[in-house]
Amino acid sequence: MCGIMGYVGPREAAPILVDGLRRLEYRGYDSAGVAVCDGRHLVVRKAEGKLARLSEMLDVDPVPGSSGIGHTRWATHGAPSDHNAHPHTDPSGEIAVVHNGIIENFLALKEELLAAGATFTSETDSEVLAHLVAQEYDGDLLEATRRAVARAKGAYALVVTSSREPGRIVAVRMISPLVVGLGKGEVFLASDIPAILHHTRDIMVVDNGEIVDVTADGAHLQTIDGRPVQRDLLQITWDAAQAERGGYPHFMLKEIHEQPQAVTETLTGRLLDGEPETVVLDDVHFPPGFARALDRIWVTACGTALHAGLVAKEVFEGLLRVPVEVAYAHELRYRDPLIGPGSLTVAISQSGETADTLAAAYLAKERGSRLLAVTNVVGSTLSRTADDLLYTRAGPEIAVASTKAYMTMLVGEYLLALVLGRERGTLDATAAAALVAGLRTLPRVVEETLAREEDIKALAAGFNGHDHVYFIGRGLDYAVAMEGSLKMKEISYIHSEAMPAGELKHGTLALVTEGTPVVVVLTQTAVYDKTISALQEVKARRAFTVAVAYDDDTEIAKHADRVVRIPRVPDLLAPVPAIVPLQLLAYHVAAARGHDIDQPRNLAKSVTVE
Ligand code: M6R
Repeated sequence: MCGIMGYVGPREAAPILVDGLRRLEYRGYDSAGVAVCDGRHLVVRKAEGKLARLSEMLDVDPVPGSSGIGHTRWATHGAPSDHNAHPHTDPSGEIAVVHNGIIENFLALKEELLAAGATFTSETDSEVLAHLVAQEYDGDLLEATRRAVARAKGAYALVVTSSREPGRIVAVRMISPLVVGLGKGEVFLASDIPAILHHTRDIMVVDNGEIVDVTADGAHLQTIDGRPVQRDLLQITWDAAQAERGGYPHFMLKEIHEQPQAVTETLTGRLLDGEPETVVLDDVHFPPGFARALDRIWVTACGTALHAGLVAKEVFEGLLRVPVEVAYAHELRYRDPLIGPGSLTVAISQSGETADTLAAAYLAKERGSRLLAVTNVVGSTLSRTADDLLYTRAGPEIAVASTKAYMTMLVGEYLLALVLGRERGTLDATAAAALVAGLRTLPRVVEETLAREEDIKALAAGFNGHDHVYFIGRGLDYAVAMEGSLKMKEISYIHSEAMPAGELKHGTLALVTEGTPVVVVLTQTAVYDKTISALQEVKARRAFTVAVAYDDDTEIAKHADRVVRIPRVPDLLAPVPAIVPLQLLAYHVAAARGHDIDQPRNLAKSVTVE
């Protein structure tokens, strides 16, 4: 998983490439590089480490030229190093490639090339592509690339340039994302839209199995077997400033604070004035009778999106009275699940490009299930694979740790439950109207919760000297605990575990000693007393207990060492405000430790490889 860029036009390419790579660094950041053509020669500059190193290199020793390709890497084959950094060239240095994804048969290809006398300078799978294109080259980069990729197997995106044809770039999409931006007399290529949005809003999404031939005059799209493709341009309306930090020290904090707006966007146009029980989802079109006949819902996702799926299970089972299975996509794809035509599979993914989630979604479709995508990225692979679509509209999420995307996934799930519940007949108009009314309050409720940030910041100090943290809850509170725990571990690097409150005494309690922080989420009235019992169990071991509870909970202060308050909402909607203090807690613990919050070690924003 990496970020790739290309530029052809009248301007100096290197600064444009580096700027685009900076916006793609969330996809990987262990090395970076560019190859720029000055009209006669290709010059490659690359370096291990973050993009800043490459940038410094280019400041000292600039590379002139108005076309080029660039890359920011997240290692799959070969450790992070200067020589494994992209771009990779063929031995003559006339052809350069950048590549995102995996070439599954690279070892066989490499052996073949070695036997023919080739020499390699890296351990990457990508370098074989430069050799293959060179081997196939007879004066036409498009045809050479086409023939080269016919020999490669895998899921990837590839961008190729050659000093033999200055001002021409060829790119291929085999599953991994790729977009083209069309400017005036200049064309951009990138792994995603925010990387080029400040240059152009006219975007052409390259589809799976397509090859695009780019010059400054435009981009010509074909299928890999040579059939011309006409693709409508997407007009992107995002504000470019949305993709910037906007004054916050980190994107994560900015994105946490964008949540009221994000929730508003998710709801906009979907709740009808004058029809309090009705929800309209433009891209969800179940066939007549489908919702009533539904025998099972499968929810599949990874990471934070899976945690949103845990909320979906409680909400869907409660409101739709249908069994719901929540399955990690990386498990589901290798199972023999009982998914069939009577089921609905809900695949949840911020990026819509997570390889495992896509594979699970394809499996569900193959087995005849209807596929509904809940995703944030317009035009993502998942969105184009699904039968029904619910865009979460969180706007670009840059921080690796997902926050606003998670919250809008939850809101999307409530909307979906309303549509399905009304169609199934399990949700009457009064109950639906009450839920809609609750949804309308959420932007304000989240805003109010955010206003308490200073209290949470003060609390964060109590976590800093600890190596282990536990999060517990029951039902929906357990789902929130799971997400709170993931946030804590991925940015603070403190070991953290979440579990249902009742599970603690079956083993983990052995690890709770004096001062161990235990966070207890307590919003579910039906199981409140039961969770208090678990809280007592950890108190008895002298744990440091922090409870997340409603403003009007007068009981909790008798039990917990500290209480973080959230405004009262219907219990079903509580995950939305309840996650906010846990996001802020993780953020302030990590900030106090001086971590690279937006790009935590070993992680990447979008996991587009298995
Ligand atoms: O793009 P997706 O929602 O499919 O990504 C899934 C996970 O990789 C992602 O949620 C990951 O767990 C986040 N970094 C957590 O903050």
